[in-house]
Amino acid sequence: MTRFKTILVTGGAGYIGSHCVVDLLEAGYEVVAIDNFANAVGDDQGSPALQRAEQITGKNITFYKADLLDKPQINDIFDKHEVDCVIHFAALKAVGESMQQPLLYYQNNLLGMLNLLEVMRSHNCFQMVFSSSCTVYGEPEHLPITETHPTGKITNVYGRTKYFIEEMLKDLSAAEKRWNIISLRYFNPVGAHPSGLIGEDPTKEFTNLMPFMAQVALGKKPVLTVFGNDYNTPDGTGIRDYIHVMDLANGHVAALKLLNDNQVGLKVYNLGTGKGVSVKELVDVFERVTDTKIPLQYVSRRLGDITAMWADATLARDELGWTTKYTIEEMCTDFWRWQTMNPDGYPKNTKTTVIISNGNS
Ligand SMILES: NC(=O)c1ccc[n+]([C@@H]2O[C@H](COP(=O)([O-])OP(=O)(O)OC[C@H]3O[C@@H](n4cnc5c(N)ncnc54)[C@H](O)[C@@H]3O)[C@@H](O)[C@H]2O)c1
Repeated sequence: MTRFKTILVTGGAGYIGSHCVVDLLEAGYEVVAIDNFANAVGDDQGSPALQRAEQITGKNITFYKADLLDKPQINDIFDKHEVDCVIHFAALKAVGESMQQPLLYYQNNLLGMLNLLEVMRSHNCFQMVFSSSCTVYGEPEHLPITETHPTGKITNVYGRTKYFIEEMLKDLSAAEKRWNIISLRYFNPVGAHPSGLIGEDPTKEFTNLMPFMAQVALGKKPVLTVFGNDYNTPDGTGIRDYIHVMDLANGHVAALKLLNDNQVGLKVYNLGTGKGVSVKELVDVFERVTDTKIPLQYVSRRLGDITAMWADATLARDELGWTTKYTIEEMCTDFWRWQTMNPDGYPKNTKTTVIISNGNS
């Protein structure tokens, strides 16, 4: 019998958040989602991604257009709902933008987190799953990367916001024993829900490999720019640990279960497949399963990009009982299904399509 009932999902209209909401609803949780649409399609009427999450699951979501920087608004939401646990996805995540606008990133990601933690504490909610990133490891000293690998030698502002938050969570959980927090270090989420109804549709400029590749395959962009083919890897391109977004979503449900059953203080887990795949290999699989051709243009390496990174996900397997199920082929097939069913992403005018229950009404 589970004690957790209501989960507050910040950044719920975003890519990973919306997929996780589907898994939460299917696992029987009630979801209150918030988003300020900084990087997701939506308006005062709501979020098309969450409307489709309702369609997939046949369940309702309570949604608030809300900004974590607006502490009174967050406080009001906690006044209205008895939140058992928070899954905190909301953050700005563009590495390049973070280098140009560090204050924006420190304000949004750090202050947003501080506001959230303070509001949670004042409402006696001490349970959280936090979206961290493998960027906290910096250049790997060994591969695969375990959770004990040193952190902090990071080359970009975005990654530093994740690192600083993890350090803050260490201090908090050491000082106040009631906190019960899991920080999940994601590797490289790709793919989409197998229904093709939800997927990745950022509103900010993006350089993520799979959405970019799909745009090229659709003929919306002429060529896929690959940064560096002179890395010390078998084909010269960088190697990453790509993980299907539904496997990632499922890792959050596993984390909730652990928090529900145990007082862990602060625990950190890698969420990856444990396998490294090069950019060239990913492009080859994508071309094969989608029967398309992706013209490539090799340019010089990007400052701060690392050669290779993949996870040791043994700890998540042993302690969360979680493993990945989806193959690289399925990641490509599912993303392509989403992209071809929705070549322009979500409908931009939600007035006619969105029927999310609005928590304010
Ligand atoms: N996608 C990745 O490659 C990746 C890898 C590692 C970690 N992460 C982390 O996972 C989380 C989710 O990532 P994603 O890929 O779904 O990104 P996303 O941009 O699609 O989702 C984040 C959501 O948070 C919202 N948001 C941002 N600031 C907010 C604020 N102040 N108040 C309310 N809402 C706000 C955005 O509008 C967006 O919908 C982020 O914390 C990100 O840093 C992502």
